[in-house]
Amino acid sequence: MDLVKEIQRLKKEKNAVILAHYYQIGEIQDIADYVGDSLGLSQKAAETDADIIVFAGVHFMAETAKILNPSKKVVLPDVNAGCSLADSCPPDAFEAFTKAHPDHVVITYVNCSAEIKALSDIVCTSSNALKIVESVPKDTPIIFAPDKNLGRYIINETGRDMLLWDGSCVVHEAFSMDKLIALHKKYPDYKIIAHPESETHILNTATYIGSTSGMINYVKEHQDQKFIVATEAGILHKMQLEMPNTELVPAPAKEDNTCACSECHFMKMNTMQKLYDCLKNESPQIEVDPAIIDRALLPIERMLELSK
Ligand code: 13P
Ligand code: SF4
Repeated sequence: MDLVKEIQRLKKEKNAVILAHYYQIGEIQDIADYVGDSLGLSQKAAETDADIIVFAGVHFMAETAKILNPSKKVVLPDVNAGCSLADSCPPDAFEAFTKAHPDHVVITYVNCSAEIKALSDIVCTSSNALKIVESVPKDTPIIFAPDKNLGRYIINETGRDMLLWDGSCVVHEAFSMDKLIALHKKYPDYKIIAHPESETHILNTATYIGSTSGMINYVKEHQDQKFIVATEAGILHKMQLEMPNTELVPAPAKEDNTCACSECHFMKMNTMQKLYDCLKNESPQIEVDPAIIDRALLPIERMLELSK
């Protein structure tokens, strides 16, 4: 069976849209109607008139699409495609944390469960985090969760005093500083660009820090330069497609990682076969408790409004 043709046929027949993150395998990115970062994907999910949203990404992304479209079917090729960052923030513990600091505005990074979003005042992504934090009056204390690395980066950039949740992304904490230094010695004219989920010592080496879309745009604007790219290696597919003559090397991961670069095994759970199956069977579907949707929608809408 020609999976590409069959996916395209089913997509038309069922009025479905395929939204994919830059960390998906290249074939999935190539067949998607839209490939983007977390903010772009939420914006597309909010404006789609498709009947079915096929979310080629991870669980929290598909959940966000469902919160924005409760009456539509949202399917995820592999329902086990989770996220270490989302897992690091259990709702009960987080609720107790927010209750212990009732005067704090709660800003949550979109990489969290629907239950955590429901406990938030406003959601952010890596491309609008600085803007969202700066939208809060200066004398108002802030809780930022769940990513402590992104939180530290925001504190450094804005000077804001924020209470951080102790969560992190396994992929962005897998970069090896020693190997990065060795790689940079080998390629001294390469500039390092990094995602803010990376640890501070990695970010300190970077010429540019930004979301996946931000990193792609930066490379686009500096195509005469060469880059070491410190984020999940799937992003190189899009960069290389759009900038075929720009030299790019993925930042190296520690010894114990599954590949020489850093890959998200959750993102890589989705395959072309699973994409086809979920479109054909309209399953696995993402369901979110209506009571949670009621509370989680406003913090997401606030973010979308501030990101226009
Ligand atoms: P962005 O694509 O929004 O930069 O997020 C990166 C990420 O880790 C998504 O899981
Ligand atoms: Fe979660 Fe990190 Fe994978 Fe993104 S790259 S889905 S933050 S584990």
